[in-house]
Amino acid sequence: MRKLILDLDMGIDDAMALCFALASPEVELVGITCVFGNVPVGVSARNCLDVLHLLGRDDIPVIVGADRPLAGMGPHRAFQAVHGANGIGGVELERARREVGRPDDPARGDAARFIVQAALRYGGDLLVVPTGPLTNIARALELDARAMTALRGTTFMGGALTVPGNVTPAAEANIAADPEAAARVLASGMPLTMVGLDVTHRVAATRGDIAGWRALGTDAGAAFAQMVESYIDAYEAADPWIGGCALHDPLAVAVALDPALAVTYETPLAVDLTGPLRGRTIGDEPAWASGAPGVEVALDVDATAFLDRFRERMARGLSA
Ligand code: BDR
Ligand code: CA
Repeated sequence: MRKLILDLDMGIDDAMALCFALASPEVELVGITCVFGNVPVGVSARNCLDVLHLLGRDDIPVIVGADRPLAGMGPHRAFQAVHGANGIGGVELERARREVGRPDDPARGDAARFIVQAALRYGGDLLVVPTGPLTNIARALELDARAMTALRGTTFMGGALTVPGNVTPAAEANIAADPEAAARVLASGMPLTMVGLDVTHRVAATRGDIAGWRALGTDAGAAFAQMVESYIDAYEAADPWIGGCALHDPLAVAVALDPALAVTYETPLAVDLTGPLRGRTIGDEPAWASGAPGVEVALDVDATAFLDRFRERMARGLSA
């Protein structure tokens, strides 16, 4: 069976991505690596442990990764208006008993090494889905570029090629949080698919979805309904045209598992590193001539097929 690593900056749509992945029978989640982003990395890790506990999966390893971007400290993105102060909409989950980085955990505190070890072990059977800044992936490339290039594929949520950004007019949040890491990853030659705002703004969860989760009568259904309700509130205030909350991170997992959900366009991609466009992902077709690797960029999505699958898998994941 295909293996999966999720690399999460555990906010609300990251939590939905995790639930979706756990309810996907065609893949085995072998670990979660954490990165700063929506929240500091320690909070991201805590949220991963507690959401796994909520979903009855205390067995999944959680490994702490980067707490800052490659180039210095940078501004920590506090997306409190979108994800709440604790990253999960202010919802207080029962704490998992285990702690990250426990002494008997061989990969404690070293997300990049965990990813490389999995790449060496599983090779072409391993999918990696980063849904936060690409810092852990850039670090993994530093450790072993050959292993990272040999894995099945990395499908990341981030970027915007044909649409405006969401944190600046040009930049999407995950890329803006560590543009240097994104630039390295995009130029690496790893097999990459970008699931950016071009497609993630076309798929939304609605209040009808969360009513359905509440009606399941489970703790997980109630907690996810509360989390996602606050996420929808934030989207209705800032981006009402989306018609609910954008399902950025779940879509990246879905496309990783089933690439047929998206139509992609292959191009070398560059990242602007300076000036007001810092963090912009931009096609660089002339770079083909100098041998630059291409990235598959999702430009269209079968929204109906994705949403049907999202609803079915979320209901399954939240039923236990
Ligand atoms: C991305 O930024 C984060 O806030 C979300 O979790 C998602 O990964 C969307 O731009
Ligand atoms: Ca995210």
